[in-house]
Amino acid sequence: MMLKLNDVHTYYGESHALQGVSIELNEGETVCLLGRNGAGKSTTLKTIVGLTPARRGTVEFEGVDITALPPYKVARLGVGLVPEDRRMFPDLTVRENLEVARYVRPGTTPQWSVERIFDEYDMLAELEHRKAGNLSGGQQQMLAVARSLMSEPKLLLLDEPNEGLAPVIVNQIGALIEQLKKTTTILFTDQSVHFALKHAERAYILEKGQVVCSTTSQELRENEELQQRYLSVA
Ligand SMILES: Nc1ncnc2c1ncn2[C@@H]1O[C@H](COP(=O)(O)OP(=O)(O)OP(=O)(O)O)[C@@H](O)[C@H]1O
Ligand SMILES: [Mg+2]
Repeated sequence: MMLKLNDVHTYYGESHALQGVSIELNEGETVCLLGRNGAGKSTTLKTIVGLTPARRGTVEFEGVDITALPPYKVARLGVGLVPEDRRMFPDLTVRENLEVARYVRPGTTPQWSVERIFDEYDMLAELEHRKAGNLSGGQQQMLAVARSLMSEPKLLLLDEPNEGLAPVIVNQIGALIEQLKKTTTILFTDQSVHFALKHAERAYILEKGQVVCSTTSQELRENEELQQRYLSVA
């Protein structure tokens, strides 16, 4: 088991955002966390990496209890998060944003480098010297994902990777996920079902901070009632 959330409760002050979330990911899987606005998708990812630590319950990564670890320690264990706001350094160039994100765990052989990223993603190579703050939303999302690869994650958490992007860019992000799936375990979030069904093998549906359904993509595809009950239409 790569990742295991067991009865996780997370609060913002007195507000009870996650109310007993349990999810599991095996190594090599691509899983989607689905749910409408405010369901708790981002909070789940933030709880895994320690940005909003669980007040009750446990988070285990590769059998290690990481519930109370600070974010930088979780990152060093090999968990990469691409947050919803794609946080990066706007005044640094694309190349510099990649370089500052470099971290290789002791004892591991690096798979990625700035050069390899530029070799594989022409779109980013062409933007090498552009400041990140001047990129379009889609370009920023590509950079945000590429940036997370610079720390060689074993588990990649992507928060709504297709949000607000034009269809042509969504296809590129999809292609990137398809490629990363081959070597990395991925948990990504989405509000609607289309992108999720295309790229994930299975999904958890969240509503009001609780997992209301655990399903394979195949089952979800065939169950329109489930889609309509818990998900946004897109
Ligand atoms: N910083 C915060 N302070 C207080 N409450 C918050 C904060 N962030 C989120 N919440 C609340 O926690 C709940 C879960 O929010 P979360 O952002 O995890 O949802 P989400 O599924 O990611 O939604 P979206 O699809 O809009 O991104 C919501 O009720 C939200 O209002
Ligand atoms: Mg969110």
